[in-house]
Amino acid sequence: MVEQRKLVNMRGRTIARSETESFKQPSDFFVLASIFTNFCYRSVPMDLGEGAYGSVLGFQSKFDDAVGIAVKKYAQRCFRELQLIRSLGHENIVKWISAYTVAEPLSSRNQGPYSIYLITEYAGLDLRIRLNNEEKNKQYTLRSFKRMISELLRALKYLKSANVIHRDLKPSNIAIDARGKLTLLDFGMARAFNINQELTTDSGTCVYRALETIVVWHGNYAAWSMDERLRIYDDKADMWSVGAILCEMITGLVLFYVQVEPGKTASAIDVIRKALQICGPIPDYVISRFDTDSLRKKLRKENANASPRIDFIQYFREHGRSWLRREIEADRVDLDDFINRTLVFDYEDRMSVDEALAHPFLASERRLEKEVVAHFQIQDEENRSVEKWQERILEFINNPNP
Ligand SMILES: Nc1ncnc2c1ncn2[C@@H]1O[C@H](COP(=O)(O)OP(=O)(O)OP(=O)(O)O)[C@@H](O)[C@H]1O
Ligand SMILES: [Mg+2]
Repeated sequence: MVEQRKLVNMRGRTIARSETESFKQPSDFFVLASIFTNFCYRSVPMDLGEGAYGSVLGFQSKFDDAVGIAVKKYAQRCFRELQLIRSLGHENIVKWISAYTVAEPLSSRNQGPYSIYLITEYAGLDLRIRLNNEEKNKQYTLRSFKRMISELLRALKYLKSANVIHRDLKPSNIAIDARGKLTLLDFGMARAFNINQELTTDSGTCVYRALETIVVWHGNYAAWSMDERLRIYDDKADMWSVGAILCEMITGLVLFYVQVEPGKTASAIDVIRKALQICGPIPDYVISRFDTDSLRKKLRKENANASPRIDFIQYFREHGRSWLRREIEADRVDLDDFINRTLVFDYEDRMSVDEALAHPFLASERRLEKEVVAHFQIQDEENRSVEKWQERILEFINNPNP
């Protein structure tokens, strides 16, 4: 069932915003009408969210309360996300249903001549909303969070086998359905790993991102060759986010939270500073891998003010949700090791997805038969102009088997 939700920010306050804000173009009418006739969905659409790349509406099935769809309207380039979601097939990855393009009148806000809509299966409320709901959270035990992390890791293992890094793991990109099943959403920043073009700058939050991901995005790497990038960056970038998400599950607090003015996102340097207070200094050999003297200088200067690494078990004792404390004590050795091997600045020392799946902390949730891999590799397409991307999208949507 598509659950009603309030729009909440990270601290749980309700944000006033007009519903379905971006679904007001004339073209939206055709798409929504088409959804009602083709999929027989009923009810007033529910606003599921709005992010950097578009806005998302949810609809519930006329016939079956358990089934719903999510419609994401794009404001920007989206070819890679469409391609990835249509190609991937995993029980913990959002499922493709269809996509539409509709010609936009010239007056519209949209950047191109077409609006693009992606239709996926509704996967439940996102984890940011779930974690913000103190009352309902009491249903989650440490064991339920372990199950979610295991499901997330299985999705990552599958992605890795298909040559894909998600690069934007965070609670709002993870949905949890009414039965607690996890679905990974939002492939807007995901890339095939043999990236040979720019690692685009993204306006989203970097509080869940690994150091190397933050500096790749905010540093001056445009001129780097693939080999040079691979020296500092690989698929373990997603594992840092797994550690940050697990901490947030346990405490309900964003681990690397940085206070910013409403409507703004924390800057890269603020997030790095926060990480230095929690995880201790960055080893100098990691800093020396990074490009540009100025970046290295900046990081070394920040490093001089780093605090000693915190004791995570002590942090959970102080800030963990009260009903999890018994389980945390019972599991403290494995939990401590799990966190300390994910929140590691050097990606080479960071735990891999396979090591995490086999970690004793998750032993009770291990399901080897569910650790499936893809039998294909996603190849990234070369960069194009906005017009050429639009052409490619039309060709892709109109061709069921590209
Ligand atoms: N299939 C789905 N099932 C349930 N909820 C969904 C689904 N797709 C999207 N959502 C909701 O809509 C929100 C925005 O979707 P998505 O993350 O794909 O967009 P985005 O614009 O790329 O977001 P951002 O840039 O903020 O990460 C999600 O955080 C989630 O709450
Ligand atoms: Mg998102």
